Amino acid sequence: MDDKQVILSVKGLCLEFSHRKGAIKALRDISFDMCQGEILGVVGESGAGKSLTGSAIMGLLDDSAAITAGEIVYQGQRIDNLDDASRQALRGKEISAIFQDPLTSLNPVLTIEEQLTETILTHLPLSQSEALEKAIALLEEVGIAQAAERIKQYPHQFSGGMRQRIVIALALCVDPFIVIADEPTTALDVSVQSQVLQLLKRLCKQHGTTVMLVTHDMGVIAEVCDRVAVMYAGEVVEIGKVHDIVKHPQHPYTVGLMDSIPRIGVRKKRLSQISGSMPRLTELPCGCKFHPRCQFKQFGCDTTTPCLKQTTTTAVACLRDISIEEHI
Ligand SMILES: Nc1ncnc2c1ncn2[C@@H]1O[C@H](COP(=O)(O)OP(=O)(O)O)[C@@H](O)[C@H]1O
Ligand SMILES: [Mg+2]
Repeated sequence: MDDKQVILSVKGLCLEFSHRKGAIKALRDISFDMCQGEILGVVGESGAGKSLTGSAIMGLLDDSAAITAGEIVYQGQRIDNLDDASRQALRGKEISAIFQDPLTSLNPVLTIEEQLTETILTHLPLSQSEALEKAIALLEEVGIAQAAERIKQYPHQFSGGMRQRIVIALALCVDPFIVIADEPTTALDVSVQSQVLQLLKRLCKQHGTTVMLVTHDMGVIAEVCDRVAVMYAGEVVEIGKVHDIVKHPQHPYTVGLMDSIPRIGVRKKRLSQISGSMPRLTELPCGCKFHPRCQFKQFGCDTTTPCLKQTTTTAVACLRDISIEEHI
């Protein structure tokens, strides 16, 4: 993080769902900072709590979810306890979202022009013609050729990759400070995933936008992020600069995720080194939640829950005295 300014902090966040058998603790003591202009990756297998963390920041949680401890602080102001209207105002203007499926963000019965200009006019003090100009410029920026003509078309007239580019334009058109991008390229063909990610990265760096990039894919993280939080079963188990996480992953789970990235020229017996699967929230083991799958487990891992501890590189929640680089 160095001397960059923190724009958003999640501090000790705990989130529960009420369930007929009792409370389900879906997020436990989540803490991290997002710094001005950085791309923070949030990675982990399906069910790790990545989307819930994004939804908590956006203020888009289900009624059945309750934040039971901790807080979310945006530009020095606590936002997790704001009323719905204030959250909605923040969401439209300052914190915007890109979801996996572009069709959830785009209205099929409105043209791209209608959607972009309406969003711009709602939030920015521009005239109709200025809004249209801004919308066309943004479409050009996201790589839509003949933007002035194509802006008159409907979402279904674009390919999946082009639609996701339009969603990026929609997320950026109000000049937000933060974009939460939840699996933004997962629904796209592999061949266009990288182009869209690079576009997102370039635009956010140019606009100085801070991004939380949620993905299950460590390859995506390595390609575009500055820092990474690795989540497992509702906790952050390792956090640090992408370079450190990629070169020297310390938590055994991060080591496994890194190992699951296919590398050109490296033959592997299996793609993933992590056997087993993530536990259900109703059946979480005692101690470290990862210990039943951990090849380095030792005495105490099944009884003591490790806290995040800062090392010379990343912060890691593991009881081992860590130096497992030789295993990666
Ligand atoms: N409305 C809900 N009620 C109960 N459990 C939920 C609800 N929404 C999410 N969960 C649970 O919370 C956990 C984390 O979900 P999520 O954040 O969507 O995971 P990820 O995005 O990392 O795949 C999952 O185990 C999921 O089943
Ligand atoms: Mg998700």
